[in-house]
Amino acid sequence: MTNINLHSRSLVTIDDLSNGEIEALFSLTDEMSESLNEQSEVCRGKIMASLFFEPSTRTRLSFETAMLRLGGHVISAIDIGSSSLSKGESIADMARVAGSYADIIVIRHPWEGAARVVADYAGIPVINAGDGSHAHPTQTLCDLYTLKKEKQTLKGLKIAFWGDLKHGRTTHSLSYALARFGATILFHPSPGLEMPEHVLRKLTAECGGKLERDTAALGYASGEKFFPVEAAYITPNHPHQLAMMPDICMQVEFKTGVDALYVTRLQKERFVASPTKEGELQNAYPVVDKKLLERKEFKKTLVMHPLPRVDELAYEIDADPRSMYFKQAARGVPVRMALISLMLGDRNITVPEEIKPFGPKTYHPTYKHGTEIRCPNPICISNQETEIKYIRPEFRIVNLEPPILECTYCEHELRPKFIASSDWHEGTLEYKNYHKADSHWIRKIKPDNLIVFTTEEEALAQGFKPDKHIAQNDENSE
Ligand code: CP
Repeated sequence: MTNINLHSRSLVTIDDLSNGEIEALFSLTDEMSESLNEQSEVCRGKIMASLFFEPSTRTRLSFETAMLRLGGHVISAIDIGSSSLSKGESIADMARVAGSYADIIVIRHPWEGAARVVADYAGIPVINAGDGSHAHPTQTLCDLYTLKKEKQTLKGLKIAFWGDLKHGRTTHSLSYALARFGATILFHPSPGLEMPEHVLRKLTAECGGKLERDTAALGYASGEKFFPVEAAYITPNHPHQLAMMPDICMQVEFKTGVDALYVTRLQKERFVASPTKEGELQNAYPVVDKKLLERKEFKKTLVMHPLPRVDELAYEIDADPRSMYFKQAARGVPVRMALISLMLGDRNITVPEEIKPFGPKTYHPTYKHGTEIRCPNPICISNQETEIKYIRPEFRIVNLEPPILECTYCEHELRPKFIASSDWHEGTLEYKNYHKADSHWIRKIKPDNLIVFTTEEEALAQGFKPDKHIAQNDENSE
């Protein structure tokens, strides 16, 4: 047996929990669900700080209900305007102070990576309740728990993601978890709201599956036959004979139906759009209604939604037994009770050896050189709290050929155009060259010594000179 205890740990992204820990948490959730009124000694005397700097109904109320049912207390701040953040206080200082009042912090914030900073500074366990479009790991736990309860397994499921996949933090966190548990994901974005490239790259790089983007094979061009799919993540657990014939495989996949439709709303608050653009996006937005659910591929499909819904989910399907969204929301209480009690160290749980953790944490070297490069994501916390100067941009090197750096706060990618080494020719300016990122030089530079530039101007400003290939090209183009 393996002993699971999340004592003193934080949950910032779903990668902070192994598959075994998630399974263990679900066992405890089952226990909590059956005895919601009998848990009032578990967190007696403990205090949860509920910091919601963005609107919330489900996450905030279910976390607060969970803590109260566990016998604990709740203190809260529910908008930036009523906290000292509005006076210019840094998130780090706010975290330190809240950490000295409470035993656990739950934080929702519009800036991506804010929860990570709170976890770094609070000194107590921190739970990310949603940071911009980045992550929403506890919604993922509610979603996975619902799928597991209704379908008994996660392995081999086929889940279609529907709507605003670009801004939906719930779809980003859920895609990583589903891939880790061996599910196949079909992406059906509203036009212009496709899954971000960095999410798709991470899925294939870290979960071992394959990304299919041949839209003809996916039925995108033949939307009459199957519902349109723009891309698909195919789990490596796929039956062997199908994996050998990817195109046929996808056609068969569609015919056998979809296990769940995961619908999301248009996240208007995440983009600055003109009323015209917003109208266009709204008009093109796919709606799930009774008629759609009559299609053959949706016969046994669960309809899931993190809520709130706007117009994308018709009220006429609420009574349909396939509709799961209110069950998902209700399960938020026992799921979060189990999580809080494990993180406050008041509960241990043992799980059989065979589900011992399958670690999602692939090791990536830290990028060590140059604070000049910035995360390309404007709402990353590393671009928002720059005036205060306590946050330095931080990156992991997640790929070498081509070089790709991932921001450690928001996980957005930076793909540099030029590279250099901090090691060779140290101090000898005449050899201090920069090279194209896609040249053979990338194989010669150790990750510890890698320096990257997004433009030639950056390299020149730091005293580097173009290598002879770049210099020749520059001469020819003059
Ligand atoms: N699902 C979810 O996060 O809902 P709220 O925004 O109401 O918390």
